[in-house]
Amino acid sequence: MYSSKITGLGFYVPDNIVTNDDLSKIMETNDAWIQERTGIEERRWIKKGSDDSTSVMGAKAARIAIERAGLDKFDIDFIVFATLSPDMYFPGGGVEIQEMLGMDTIGALDVRNQCSGFVYAMSVADQFIKTGMYKNILVIGSEYHSGGLDKTTRGRGVSVIFGDGAGAVVLSRSEEKGRGILSTHLHSEGKHAKELVLEGPSTARWVPEIIEANNPDDVSYYPYMNGQFVFKHAVTRFSEAINEGLEYNGLTAAEIDLLVPHQANLRIAQFIQRKFKLRDDQVYNNIMKYGNTTAASVVIALSEAWEKGKINDGDLVVLAAFGSGFTWGSVFIKW
Ligand code: UT7
Repeated sequence: MYSSKITGLGFYVPDNIVTNDDLSKIMETNDAWIQERTGIEERRWIKKGSDDSTSVMGAKAARIAIERAGLDKFDIDFIVFATLSPDMYFPGGGVEIQEMLGMDTIGALDVRNQCSGFVYAMSVADQFIKTGMYKNILVIGSEYHSGGLDKTTRGRGVSVIFGDGAGAVVLSRSEEKGRGILSTHLHSEGKHAKELVLEGPSTARWVPEIIEANNPDDVSYYPYMNGQFVFKHAVTRFSEAINEGLEYNGLTAAEIDLLVPHQANLRIAQFIQRKFKLRDDQVYNNIMKYGNTTAASVVIALSEAWEKGKINDGDLVVLAAFGSGFTWGSVFIKW
């Protein structure tokens, strides 16, 4: 068995900064409410007319990751792409990225696990590398939320939270034992699928039916979140996913050098930090600047932390995520 390690990483966010004050001009909200409940100060939203899309941003992040890995695009054997906001209903965005990067006819797999998408994608890629099937895999998380949010007061409970952006890593084969990805832990609980959901358009709600109903109060094609319900489950499941990895690897929380939690809400991350008695320098958060970028959030935070020199050789880095599905999980990495 081989092990897999991150050899390159990078992220891309659109230039357009949208502050809480900007939002208060288009809906009834305010900076104090958003900061107090979520920790978010600003987010990036793709500007209308920009060439950015979910796949374009994913490709931009991927180019940085490949370059930092010291590889050429033709060294990549496979793509795993996580998003809940693909450019097209089908095909998925992985194939678009394969084309945008001008790669060989390598396989491209889309992962549909929302906020846990990157954690799931890393686990999938890890298995392909461990078994020897592939040597270098591009793992990408990208999300373009802003185009599909209800930006009126009606949608404020959801729309102020989400931001656009992308991140990518190259996961490569390694023969060093005890380094790289130590373990991954994945879970789901589908009975709560509708607590954080975008119902239509879908095969349950075909477009002609939506058009025919012509109902201005139909909000089923905007994301819906039962915020407090999701919050309560998030704090429990985040903790479980971290504990599971600690136990599996015979580690304690004190040995974590950097926890990179999914950037769902700063209050959730702070709760987890207190629960595991972690110091500020043991947890990386950037939701303040980017909001919740769903499948991109963990990899954007990981890349930014690495760029700031917060991750060193030999560090124990823990990725953890929870979100729609519900799905949750963790990735334990010896850097
Ligand atoms: O990434 C996937 C996982 N997602 C999460 O883990 C998110 C989990 N949930 C949360 O982060 C929080 O529940 C939210 C930040 C979404 C909401 O915070 P909350 O403290 O649960 O607020 P709430 O939904 O209970 O709303 C409280 C009040 C309501 O007013 P009333 O009914 O008390 O008069 C809302 O209408 O705040 C109002 N409200 C707002 N006010 C100003 C809701 N959104 C806003 C807003 N600005 N943007």
